[in-house]
Amino acid sequence: MLQYMSCRDAAERWNISQRRVSVLCAENRIPNVAMLGNMWIIPINAEKPTDARKSNGAKPTEKAHPFVKWAGGKTQLLDVLKSNLPSGIGTTITKYAEPFVGGGAFLFSLLEEYSFEEIYISDNNKELMNVYIAIRDNCNELLNDLITIQNEYNGLSAELQEQFYYEKRDEFNTVELTKKTSVQKASLFIFLNKSCFNGLFRVNKKGKYNVPFGKHKSVFLCDSDNLTKISAMLQNVEIKSCDYHEVMSFADSSTLVYFDPPYRPLNVTSGFTSYTEDDFSDKNQIELASCFKALSNKGVKVMLSNSDPKNTNENDNFFDNLYADFNILRVEASRMINSKGSSRGKIKELLIKNY
Ligand SMILES: C[S@@+](CC[C@H](N)C(=O)[O-])C[C@H]1O[C@@H](n2cnc3c(N)ncnc32)[C@H](O)[C@@H]1O
Repeated sequence: MLQYMSCRDAAERWNISQRRVSVLCAENRIPNVAMLGNMWIIPINAEKPTDARKSNGAKPTEKAHPFVKWAGGKTQLLDVLKSNLPSGIGTTITKYAEPFVGGGAFLFSLLEEYSFEEIYISDNNKELMNVYIAIRDNCNELLNDLITIQNEYNGLSAELQEQFYYEKRDEFNTVELTKKTSVQKASLFIFLNKSCFNGLFRVNKKGKYNVPFGKHKSVFLCDSDNLTKISAMLQNVEIKSCDYHEVMSFADSSTLVYFDPPYRPLNVTSGFTSYTEDDFSDKNQIELASCFKALSNKGVKVMLSNSDPKNTNENDNFFDNLYADFNILRVEASRMINSKGSSRGKIKELLIKNY
């Protein structure tokens, strides 16, 4: 009869962390592992798997990056954003807040380099914020779910993949988000994001996710190194699903707040502002500017990104007027999500700071 050991025993024997052992189990890297309740058990004579992170050419030090494709992602602007940080990060600035966190490109990049005593992230997309919570609190369980869905999907014919996608979409829309269903909904969210059309998140009037199938031949959901890294980064982070205004009660004079709201559309057809049931109108942009000012008056360091209306209309001074008291920079960026492939290209974006 096969005898088993626990992850803890395997971790000691192989001189690696327990978390790493769980990840190897979830990735099917150890033959004949099984689950007992919610714990992995490993054949006692199993050999330590070789470290694929080194042998497959992947960089072991690969930086943490967004776990979803997200409209308005800041990957293209990381260097510009970092070179515009206020002085005093890690000394006088000990708190960081990102109240439109989305895919978190800037957050992860920042946390690779700086540590803060307190970090607050939020977004009003509750399903997205649930994924952050699942990664922080139940990373191994999530990795297990992801590898299962990934293997199932990748083993199907194109026709069955489409059917599988719509079944998972129905499941996502039917299962209510609770503490108990958090991991299930997080894995469905990641699957839909990676297998839908163009990584969009769009809901109908009833709040049901309605993006069509993306016809991907295979999906890579279980990026265990990245998710494990993000999980470690998020351990002491306050994660909330709420309106950006709530950052007011977190921020004080030792805080940097980075606002990356839905961009103001350059023209009616180019805009992609429908992340949730509610659009972000000019009225919302004006309210956000008041919040920016209120934070600034409290001594908070504030940085904000937005589109530059002058790309399409030289005379449009909407943001120049709203943020006339602050430092307005025009930086070059390339937009990623746009309905017309031909109009993806370098355009100017605004970076506004109160320092
Ligand atoms: C431009 S995206 C942020 C992109 C993000 N920085 C990234 O790198 O992926 C804007 C985000 O704001 C969120 N959002 C829209 N209205 C909001 C509101 N009133 N309060 C908080 N978040 C909001 C959307 O769900 C979306 O994730």
